[in-house]
Amino acid sequence: TPALDDVLDRLVRDVEDWPEPGVLFRDVTPLLADPPALRVTVERLTELSSELADGPVDKVVGIEARGFILAVPVALALGAGFVPARKAGKLPATTHQVSYDLEYGSATLEMHTDALVPGERVVVLDDVLATGGTMAAVDELVAATGAEVVGNVTMLEIGPLGGRSRLPVGRFGTLRTY
Ligand code: PRP
Ligand code: MG
Repeated sequence: TPALDDVLDRLVRDVEDWPEPGVLFRDVTPLLADPPALRVTVERLTELSSELADGPVDKVVGIEARGFILAVPVALALGAGFVPARKAGKLPATTHQVSYDLEYGSATLEMHTDALVPGERVVVLDDVLATGGTMAAVDELVAATGAEVVGNVTMLEIGPLGGRSRLPVGRFGTLRTY
């Protein structure tokens, strides 16, 4: 919606050459700090998740670190539980692991093997879709449990990086594409 577009354009801060030269970093901290902007963002992420799921959602998987912030309020609003996908070495029990390339560097994500069970309907949530490597890695983690991804949702998409092409057609939704 135009009003939400304006909020995002005003409160997502562009930081050039961070964390390394040539990268334009989209900093969502000003948006998170603004009460009405935070509220409308969570509301719209919840609506988008419901639309994509087209049915009940059992769990929202949030991706460490910035995905955590949004996944919990969206899970509460959907009546779903929250599951963390974490960077390597942080989760205490038995995990599935997937390594992947980032726009800058590479990373490994983990999720507890018993965090989801076969047949559960899952929305995966993050702040930004860039190359899509992070989101695709979490889809693999979910698939390893036998649960079903019914939506991949982000606040922002960096369109020219083509990340959505790494996700199934019709399963990705975002509030704003740059
Ligand atoms: C950023 C962002 C997304 C991911 C998007 O996270 O929060 O999770 O990169 O990039 P991709 O689509 O190219 O994979 P980052 O790994 O920097 O970590 P953070 O969330 O812990 O800050
Ligand atoms: Mg992240």
